[in-house]
Amino acid sequence: MPRPVALVTGPTSGIGAGYARRYARDGYDLVLVARDVDRLMSLASELEGQAGEVEILPADLADAAGREKVCDRLARGVRVLVNNAGFGTSGDFWATDPALLQSQLDVNVTAVMHLTRAALPAMLDAGAGTVVNIASVAGLVPGRGSTYSASKAWVISFSEGLSVGLQGTGVGVHAVCPGYVHTEFHSRAGIDMAKSPSFMWLEVDDVVSQSLADIARGKVISIPGLQYKAIIAAERLIPRTLMRAVTKRIGGGRGRT
Ligand SMILES: NC(=O)c1ccc[n+]([C@@H]2O[C@H](COP(=O)([O-])OP(=O)(O)OC[C@H]3O[C@@H](n4cnc5c(N)ncnc54)[C@H](OP(=O)(O)O)[C@@H]3O)[C@@H](O)[C@H]2O)c1
Repeated sequence: MPRPVALVTGPTSGIGAGYARRYARDGYDLVLVARDVDRLMSLASELEGQAGEVEILPADLADAAGREKVCDRLARGVRVLVNNAGFGTSGDFWATDPALLQSQLDVNVTAVMHLTRAALPAMLDAGAGTVVNIASVAGLVPGRGSTYSASKAWVISFSEGLSVGLQGTGVGVHAVCPGYVHTEFHSRAGIDMAKSPSFMWLEVDDVVSQSLADIARGKVISIPGLQYKAIIAAERLIPRTLMRAVTKRIGGGRGRT
């Protein structure tokens, strides 16, 4: 029996590394996609003991040629696609380099669309497949910045819509919406998190295990962590104007795009 293949974007750090390690433990072959070749090779050598084959596929997902390379690999068939690569930026929208904003849209949105489009035909032919799209609670609550939140709202809406169209095919599309997770995300973005309360922080392994348990149960939108489930449940009960005021009080609604 050939082993199933999981392709994970952004496994050189944080949440993506967590999914790669988990799928390796679960007996998958892996395809690892990111820009940092040294970190890709180091993860591959760590996982080769546990997983069968580990293929590294260096690619910049902000770049059309990089996305194309990954789409070509997906078209040959994988069982699982984890669209995890993504980033935030600090500073106000109106003062941020438009090229940086565009590359954020390209990684957080365009890559998710193109990679999912490339993966689905082979999954549908096989009658089995899972697409895991890493969104964020920022995509569910208003007032947490602009382009980053909007990109994650796109991922949630896209995943939800697609999941309806795919019902009965054996292929599932899911959006995972973590809150704050201990990774390199905030330091890479230059966002100061010193004042954020400790109870708001999640660990990578908990995000991975809770989201995959939700996905196994068929949940389309997974919100890891009881504190975030409570926040989102409350958010649905109060008017968006009030929620914007709350998030402005907590986060200022500024300092990140
Ligand atoms: N940490 C949080 O609090 C949090 C909360 C909610 C959602 N998320 C989402 O979770 C996902 C993973 O983030 P993380 O927290 O694990 O952050 P992270 O530790 O900074 O990891 C980001 C990963 O994305 C890859 N990546 C970034 N830009 C890329 C590009 N242009 N091409 C290819 N790969 C690229 C990076 O690899 P290279 O640098 O090697 O290319 C890295 O492996 C993101 O989509 C993020 O929006 C994070």
